[in-house]
Amino acid sequence: MKPRLDTQLATKSARMPSWAFLDGEVVPYGQARFGLFTHALHYGTGLFAGMRAFWNDEERQLFVFRPEDHFRRFRESARLLRMDLPFSIEDLTRGVIEVLRREGYEQDVYIRPLAFYGDESLGVRLHDLTPRVGIAAMPSQFMDRNDGLHACFSSWRRVSDNMIPPRGKLAGSYVNSALAKTDAVLAGFDEALMLNDAGHVCEGSVANLFIVRRGEVVTPPITDDVLEGITRSTMMQLARERGHTVVERSIDRTEVYLADEAFFCGTGMHVTPIKRVDHRLIGDGDVGPVTRVLRDLYFDVVRGRSGAHREWCRPVFARSDMPVRLESNVERISAA
Ligand SMILES: Cc1ncc(COP(=O)(O)O)c(C=O)c1O
Repeated sequence: MKPRLDTQLATKSARMPSWAFLDGEVVPYGQARFGLFTHALHYGTGLFAGMRAFWNDEERQLFVFRPEDHFRRFRESARLLRMDLPFSIEDLTRGVIEVLRREGYEQDVYIRPLAFYGDESLGVRLHDLTPRVGIAAMPSQFMDRNDGLHACFSSWRRVSDNMIPPRGKLAGSYVNSALAKTDAVLAGFDEALMLNDAGHVCEGSVANLFIVRRGEVVTPPITDDVLEGITRSTMMQLARERGHTVVERSIDRTEVYLADEAFFCGTGMHVTPIKRVDHRLIGDGDVGPVTRVLRDLYFDVVRGRSGAHREWCRPVFARSDMPVRLESNVERISAA
């Protein structure tokens, strides 16, 4: 069977970045080059974040979505690798904003912060190594899968907390996601759903899972080996504010089959409905009403168009016509 082309749902860019944050400085992107013996390249001893900035045309402003939360998790992922990062959340947020300003992007952007052991030194270990930190961003075109996905349960199990901790975004653990994703795509599906070692439903290859069943919005708890997703926490909050009952509990495979609605969420996938799983229709096979409303709400919030949750949107450009509260954010970030 011929594999489909649009499988990643994440970022395709027409051009490479011009600038990068590298170990505390903004440098030309081409200057970020690393040798063949780089430790992380061999052993996966790195971690990353995937963030987005959304262009708001009415305000002519670019908003980075929840950078502090992404960088909090970034620093925690580093701690899991015994990595002492020399940059605070504020330093890293300022770094992103500086890169985006230099690039001058006036469009939606995908941002990739990365930290890794950069020593050109072989030997499996996490000690006596030096971290490097880079951030680059590129324009992203959202490949809308509003029409929903067909997912399958993978025969690969999700790594667990005592294997490679999935609560952090550790580079090496993405081999697990890649195995599941590629097998799903080659079998004709759009995305994989993974079970953990205990047989509970976890998440997709790069996204958290929600189902709607019997009037409740349900998502697996973090202790079921899922990433502590920023979009997951956003969706839980938005759903609660809409009056939904949101429950974090273990989910069985067959509950997904019997769900009224299901969707993936993550920075790469945004909020993407799941319409079929293992050739079974979810609900009536259409995008459900809860998913549709939460998805619209998500896009209003991330683009800074909703009156609510402007505190999650960090403006990139200092604009004289920006509201006072946002101006003070820019000043705080610039001054930090
Ligand atoms: C395995 C995994 N789960 C969930 C997510 C969603 O996390 P977030 O919403 O923080 O992007 C991602 C994406 O980064 C991921 O890689």
